Amino acid sequence: NSRRMLIAIDGPAAAGKGTLARTIAHALKLPYLDTGLLYRAVARKVLDKGVDPQLHSAEEQARHLKEDDLKRHDLRTSEVDIAASLVAAQPLVRQALMGFQQKFAQERGGVLDGRDIGTMICPNADVKLYITASAQTRARRRWLQNGGQLGDPQEKAGILHLLREIEERDSYDRNRTNSPLRKADDAQTIETDDLTPEQVFQKAMAIITSHLQQDP
Ligand code: CDP
Ligand code: CDP
Repeated sequence: NSRRMLIAIDGPAAAGKGTLARTIAHALKLPYLDTGLLYRAVARKVLDKGVDPQLHSAEEQARHLKEDDLKRHDLRTSEVDIAASLVAAQPLVRQALMGFQQKFAQERGGVLDGRDIGTMICPNADVKLYITASAQTRARRRWLQNGGQLGDPQEKAGILHLLREIEERDSYDRNRTNSPLRKADDAQTIETDDLTPEQVFQKAMAIITSHLQQDP
């Protein structure tokens, strides 16, 4: 079996998918693809044009996405969070980005993280993980990730703002017709509310190792 191992990681916003995916890829020396970045880059290009991402078709931007578009430093703003979710609901955008993701997975194997990796992009992945936590926990994580300090007078309002945004985006991602966020039937869920990134990694590695023992 010359193909490298394929690991699919899905889950809602700020659950820790990227952190886990990067750590697994590093540990197993596998390539890593953050598929959220593709939708963010498309959203960024739509916003740059000054048009409404909900009303404007983003297919053109998705078709002509370049490596350099993924390297921009302004892909993780809250404006892009929301716009990414809006363009990601467009069937033609998903279709335009599917080929790149499947080619990456087929040629290189590796770790992919997103919303529909286990269900649509890599239904035959060797291991599928569904990473989740309460919306409150995830809002708190994103607040800290963005440089927020615990005990800051802005903490409560800042976390509440992120909580609303995360809940709105999750609901949009879960309820869209095309490739909604959903746990694949054969994915293993890791509830991470009470776990550190290191503990999540250990649980994931236990799942991956047991898969390797069954099916080397
Ligand atoms: O990729 P996704 O949006 O799902 O999340 P992330 O950017 O990997 O992680 C969000 C933040 O949560 C990062 O700052 C992590 O250090 C932190 N975190 C985590 O990933 N896992 C935990 N169990 C606890 C915190
Ligand atoms: O890091 P975070 O979890 O906040 O978001 P992300 O993974 O960068 O994804 C941004 C948005 O892109 C999500 O809210 C989804 O609407 C969309 N997305 C998707 O539809 N399918 C994927 N495989 C990855 C992201």
